[in-house]
Parts: sequence; structure tokens; C-alpha cells
Amino acid sequence: MLTFTAINISHAKICAQLDSLCFDSEVFDLTMIQSLLSTPYVSGCLAMEGEDAIGYALFSHSGGEGDLLTISILPNKRGQGYGKKLLMEVFKMATAQKIEKLFLEVRVSNQAAIQLYQNQGGKTIGRRANYYSIANSTQKEDALVMELPIKI
Ligand SMILES: CC(C)(COP(=O)(O)OP(=O)(O)OC[C@H]1O[C@@H](n2cnc3c(N)ncnc32)[C@H](O)[C@@H]1OP(=O)(O)O)[C@@H](O)C(=O)NCCC(=O)NCCS
Repeated sequence: MLTFTAINISHAKICAQLDSLCFDSEVFDLTMIQSLLSTPYVSGCLAMEGEDAIGYALFSHSGGEGDLLTISILPNKRGQGYGKKLLMEVFKMATAQKIEKLFLEVRVSNQAAIQLYQNQGGKTIGRRANYYSIANSTQKEDALVMELPIKI
């Protein structure tokens, strides 16, 4: 069974470990995560399977708007609905912050994430050229900018 734990600074190390296992490039390292979690404008949750953290998400919030900073599920736990459940938990937390929509960037090639967001009513509202680096390559990849209505 999946449960959720609100993230605080004491979870920074586990979040950094998850990030390194879930992303090939543009990994959020410990310093970055500690810095994000040191502000009052970033919240998030860990997805727990028993005692094991299997994913996490962070979002920022201010002035009634929010940005989904990251969301990930460990590779061997994907495709079982956990990403969707984690996003629903983010929606609950965002609602508590009086946020009605989240903005996010996603790689144009990231079909899994794009599908996850579109299934929840996410719409593409822009594109940023050469926004992401690509692992082991000098090439860059575009980002789609999406707007995600909060639905709970
Ligand atoms: C994106 C991610 C969090 C999805 O997690 P997940 O647990 O595999 O997702 P779920 O099993 O909950 O699937 C959610 C939806 O996306 C769809 N989906 C999942 N993987 C997919 C894939 N590879 N291709 C197309 N659709 C996919 C599912 O069909 C599901 O649709 P539904 O809502 O109709 O049931 C996961 O792939 C991940 O951690 N990726 C690496 C990190 C990342 O890219 N994060 C996003 C950064 S913007």
C-alpha cells in the first residue's frame, strides 16, 4: 500500500537519492534540495511503500500559483499508478495552499510524464527551446511548458 509523508528538510538526503535513481540528467543534488526545502515556498511529499521511499514530488507556491518542481517514481515501481497517486497527493497539498493551478516544464520526449499530466487536464501553453541537457550528449532538448488545473 502506498502512503505519503510531507517532506521537510530532514528528508533532503532521501530525496536526492531518489532523484539520482529516477533521472538521467538535470538531477537535483543534495545542496539543491536542501536549498529548496529551506524556503517556506516549497512543499512536497514522499511516496512510501511500507518503510521504503519509492518516489517524491516538490512544488513551489506563492501568490495563489504554483510550480511543480519535480515528480518521480523509482524505475522498478513505474506503471502501477503510483505516479498518478503521488500527483493527487500534490494536488491535495496545493489545495491547502489555495493554489488552483500548477505550471511545469517537461521534456518533449517524456511521454510518460506528458501522459500523466494530460490525463489530469494538463495543457501545453508554451515551449522552451534547448531547455534541458541530455545525458552523455552535447545536444539539448526542448521543454513543453504545461498548465495543470488542480482537481481533487
Ligand atoms: C512520470 C512518472 C512519475 C510516472 O510515474 P508512474 O508511476 O509510472 O505513472 P502511473 O503508473 O501512475 O501512470 C500515470 C498515467 O501515465 C500513463 N503512463 C505511464 N507511463 C507511461 C508511458 N511510458 N507512456 C505513456 N503513458 C504512460 C499511464 O497510462 C497512466 O495513465 P492513467 O492515468 O490513464 O492510468 C515516472 O515515469 C517517472 O518517475 N519518470 C522519471 C521522472 C520524470 O520524468 N518525472 C517528470 C518530470 S517533468
